[in-house]
Amino acid sequence: MSHSQPHTAFPRSRPRRNRVDGWTRRLVAENHLTTSDLIWPVFVVEGENQRQPIASMPGVERLSLDLLVPAVAQARDLGIPCVALFPVIPVERKDPAGSLSGDPDNLMCRAIRAIKQAVPDIGILGDVALDPYTSHGHDGIVRDGYVLNEETVDALVRQSLVQADAGCDIVAPSDMMDGRIGAIRDALEGRGHTLTRICAYAAKYASAFYGPFRDAVQTGGLLKGDKKTYQMDPANAEEALREVALDIAEGADMVMVKPGLPYLDIVRRVKDGFGVPTFAYHVSGEYAMLRAAGGHGWLNYDAALLETLLGFKRAGADAVLTYGAVDAARLLRGN
Ligand code: PBG
Repeated sequence: MSHSQPHTAFPRSRPRRNRVDGWTRRLVAENHLTTSDLIWPVFVVEGENQRQPIASMPGVERLSLDLLVPAVAQARDLGIPCVALFPVIPVERKDPAGSLSGDPDNLMCRAIRAIKQAVPDIGILGDVALDPYTSHGHDGIVRDGYVLNEETVDALVRQSLVQADAGCDIVAPSDMMDGRIGAIRDALEGRGHTLTRICAYAAKYASAFYGPFRDAVQTGGLLKGDKKTYQMDPANAEEALREVALDIAEGADMVMVKPGLPYLDIVRRVKDGFGVPTFAYHVSGEYAMLRAAGGHGWLNYDAALLETLLGFKRAGADAVLTYGAVDAARLLRGN
């Protein structure tokens, strides 16, 4: 019967026409991943000639400054616009208040100065939080089992100022205390750091995907309990929008959603709702999953990484923090 009316047997619309060859696919591509979308998180340790692998993050190493600086220069040469710095603090230098965080000569500040001097044309995002420095692994000052808000904010302000003094371009509070963005903004302005950007970890969830990061900075073994009284409940989305609104009102220049893949709905809603620069953090556990499956030959790490990062762009992210930044930059250059 279909022979009598051949025209009705065929679709007029064939979406596959636009997929038939590479050049057409490129012409109609709606989103693009470029090296300019990448922020590379790195771990810095004390000492010299230190290159320490992290078992749960294959391909990632803690580097001492003498090795970190050339690695950052390489990232700059690949076109990566920004690195995110995380210090690994020897346990004997930690205390309950995380005092070392406010020391202008701590590892973080030395790393900022060294990178700024040797590689001035790459941006530095400095994580602001107490957890690398506290003997209990929490992101704040603890009393009676509760992380105190105002006392912690005071410490975060000091930490932000020493990092800005050292030349940090973007301070990025990752602690989720209330009111810290406004307090840090006022202090930066008061000190003449009018161009220091604040990237607020605005919607940071209490997540199981941070495990490998805590191995990397050696805080996992110290942490008692969880971070649920300050980091957000994964059940909540409206609350993330309220957090973002507060941080923008308090003076954030960019906002971040973290983790990444399980929270792409939040990335999209933040971007649509506020239209501000929105970053997503493809966190350690997400990276570890790709590496683990790739290492077993269960998927192709390179292809899965690029697809993941493009997914962040499609969801509305302007940039992505990823441990795969250098891998992605090399792959994009090869394309
Ligand atoms: C701590 C901090 C964490 C990460 C970045 N900053 C861990 C945590 O909140 O416990 C996690 C990043 C990652 O998993 O890649 N302030």
